[in-house]
Amino acid sequence: MAILLTGGAGYIGSHTCVELLNAGYKLIVVDDLSNSKLNSMVRIKEITGKDFKFYKTDILDREALESIFVENSIEAVIHLAGLKSVGESVQMPLHYYHNNITGTLVLCELMKKYNVKKMVFSSSATVYGVPEYVPISEDFPLRAMNPYGRTKLMIEEMLRDLYHSDHDWSISLLRYFNPIGAHESGRIGEDPKSIPNNLMPYITQTAVGKLEELYVFGNDYPTVDGTGVRDYIHVVDLAKGHLKALEKILTSKGVEAYNLGTGKGYSVLQIVAAFEKTTGTKIPYKIVKRRQGDVASCYADPTKARKELGWLAEKGIEDMCRDAWGWQEKNPSGYEDVLQDRNTSFVF
Ligand code: NAD
Ligand code: UD1
Repeated sequence: MAILLTGGAGYIGSHTCVELLNAGYKLIVVDDLSNSKLNSMVRIKEITGKDFKFYKTDILDREALESIFVENSIEAVIHLAGLKSVGESVQMPLHYYHNNITGTLVLCELMKKYNVKKMVFSSSATVYGVPEYVPISEDFPLRAMNPYGRTKLMIEEMLRDLYHSDHDWSISLLRYFNPIGAHESGRIGEDPKSIPNNLMPYITQTAVGKLEELYVFGNDYPTVDGTGVRDYIHVVDLAKGHLKALEKILTSKGVEAYNLGTGKGYSVLQIVAAFEKTTGTKIPYKIVKRRQGDVASCYADPTKARKELGWLAEKGIEDMCRDAWGWQEKNPSGYEDVLQDRNTSFVF
């Protein structure tokens, strides 16, 4: 029996592949490579030395996806495939609703048809909207602020409805806080297509000289130094959270949401200082006005994941900075994929 991982070639997916393979799971990756590179798969094979199947498939392509369910014996699905840019979702809402929601719908219909009723879903802390206070626990009111966030919220609701219609389902909704860092080998990491929207890839690209300076979005928030506070979590810790959630859905039924965060908040300037100290590089920055839609402070109460999944983030801010830099320094232009045109599916 195998685990089907959608979106497995992406940033979080590639790190999840490594953890799954190292834990001995039989793995099938599905990704249309719309926001990732095939090279990540090559590197996963290199890091783990383990075989796995890769299908270059769009989850919206029902026929192609169905053939994967027919060809393989699938026990559970970890569903990460989705579009994730907030700004782009405001510009192209229908594209986001179609890809994220219809994609999940097609996947769930096939899971039901082939009696695979176990899913780990990648949700986001974005479903909390503007939190009234921190730390945020799972029972906070849910409110999305943009089309991307609404796709996550709607999918959560859809999955809850699915469970309520059939108690044979077992579903984990993982609400990620801010994943950063990379695998310690420096062979896989975050590879944004264009200028990064998120803080850490912007910092690393500044450090490597691809970008001139960091723009700090506002220093007038009610926080420790006026800059925005977030719960940054090492992507390897996050990937391990998927294994814990998987163990849970393989052994029990129900639908549960879990915060995957460290429970600690760092400001933008604290992250800049930690990065400079850990890596010995200098990050020139300029304070500019606030970014629309940003909240002052957002960090998790991760107690539920600790109690119910036995999961706890282990890596600290220095590890996150060191590993983010290790990836960027060794791969200044990301994966530079030479295999991208290969339009096939194969065993690595
Ligand atoms: P990513 O873009 O690196 O990975 C997503 C992967 O899904 C990509 O490889 C992309 O090619 C693939 N994909 C997209 N649409 C697809 C489709 N229709 N069919 C097949 N594959 C498709 O992003 P990530 O950072 O690894 O995020 C993974 C998931 O986690 C996403 O669902 C994202 O919304 C969610 N998430 C990410 C963050 C974050 O900060 N990175 C935070 C919260 C939630
Ligand atoms: C953003 C998204 C959120 C998404 C998350 C992970 C917005 C409004 N929110 O959240 O929905 O779930 O990414 O993909 O886009 N910052 C700078 N300069 C930069 C970049 C960021 O100062 O160039 C600051 C931000 O103002 C914020 C912090 O750094 O205070 C973190 O920003 P970012 O990495 O974009 O994450 P979020 O804002 O949490």
